Amino acid sequence: MTQISLLKDKHILLGVTGSIACYKIVDLASKLTQAGAKVDVILTKAAQKFVTPLAFQSVTGRKAYVDLWNEDAHVLHIGLGETADLFVVAPCTADTMAKLAHGRADNLLTITALAARCPMLLAPAMDGGMWDHPATQANLETLQQRGVMFAGPAEGRMASGLKGKGRLVEPIDLVGHIRLAFAKQQPLAGRHVVVTAGGTQEAIDPVRFISNHSSGKQGIAIAQAALDAGACVTLITGPTAAARPTPVGAERINITSTLDLQQATLAACKTADVLVMAAAVADYRTANPAEQKIKRAQMSDLSVQLVENPDITVSVAEQKQALGKPNITIGFAAESQNLLENAQRKLAKKSLDLIVGNDISAKDAGFFVDTNRVILIDKDGKIERLPLQSKVAVAEAVIDWVIEASVTQ
Ligand code: C5P
Repeated sequence: MTQISLLKDKHILLGVTGSIACYKIVDLASKLTQAGAKVDVILTKAAQKFVTPLAFQSVTGRKAYVDLWNEDAHVLHIGLGETADLFVVAPCTADTMAKLAHGRADNLLTITALAARCPMLLAPAMDGGMWDHPATQANLETLQQRGVMFAGPAEGRMASGLKGKGRLVEPIDLVGHIRLAFAKQQPLAGRHVVVTAGGTQEAIDPVRFISNHSSGKQGIAIAQAALDAGACVTLITGPTAAARPTPVGAERINITSTLDLQQATLAACKTADVLVMAAAVADYRTANPAEQKIKRAQMSDLSVQLVENPDITVSVAEQKQALGKPNITIGFAAESQNLLENAQRKLAKKSLDLIVGNDISAKDAGFFVDTNRVILIDKDGKIERLPLQSKVAVAEAVIDWVIEASVTQ
């Protein structure tokens, strides 16, 4: 998922050091550039053995820097360092980590790191033994105490063929870490947002279930928008959304049935400032799910008895009476007819602060697709019709509403 607004026009200084994982960083530079960031790259000598400055220049459209010892070098490091909003070193070798920990300044990357005043994020890449070495661990501690942020390293197979901790975090996740770094200054910093996403499943037997078409895309986009706004996010997802990656920084809870979802939501809401119920919850569940698979021969006169599920938002409102949390509850109304009237009725019945109504009969909105056309209705009766736009943009609009409501609370 590429979200544009948080990284738009951000000046990211990307230091690249000599690890085979360098080749992945061209992709990172491309992703950041596509998200609207201005990416200036500094390569160490060793990095240039693996990847060329031209590769970075080609994807960023900006000069990639390599040399400390040229005619403008004495001002270059100051200029690059001063204009950066974030200094990312990826991959960061054990050697560069050691130099940064000790304040060495023997190449353009390390001298710029000393001159820079912006936050720094390192993504280490090295063999497991090197990462575990007490010297590297001591450098890690020194840098962390100084406020340097770390992305990874991840566990898994390394270029040497060994397995362990030391792999570079994948570029898509590095983008998530970079967003988290920028999100620290955003208006929902320190707030807890719970988001539910995807459809629930109600078992008929161990093989079959009743569910719906919800993909979880809209809910996951809301979780990402809340993270971008600085919030601490709990993302509770049904099985239809389970295959989708967790936005970096979110706590993920996977559930199956509506009763599971109710339990997880009520628990998470005890500390939540905001609940966004984007999940498509099954209104009914099977009364007596079979313990063994129902055979075809038994099916000719099969009828499945259903019982009503609890309304989770109503139980959240009841819990709120006792605990005072969450401060804001947002629901969704997926309707195939009379969108406005149905959404208004649900807003009142479920004691919501905002309801996001979407017309699922339209081909370009609702289930499966990446776009949505929604109406926002708040508890004071204010109605805002948003145009057809990406689910990411809809998510940002919902979180913008939360930011505004939180400021006035
Ligand atoms: O009543 P309806 O299912 O259409 O309401 C939709 C809204 O209520 C959504 O926000 C959904 O997540 C939530 N919901 C709920 N508990 C249910 C059913 C829906 O909280 N049992």
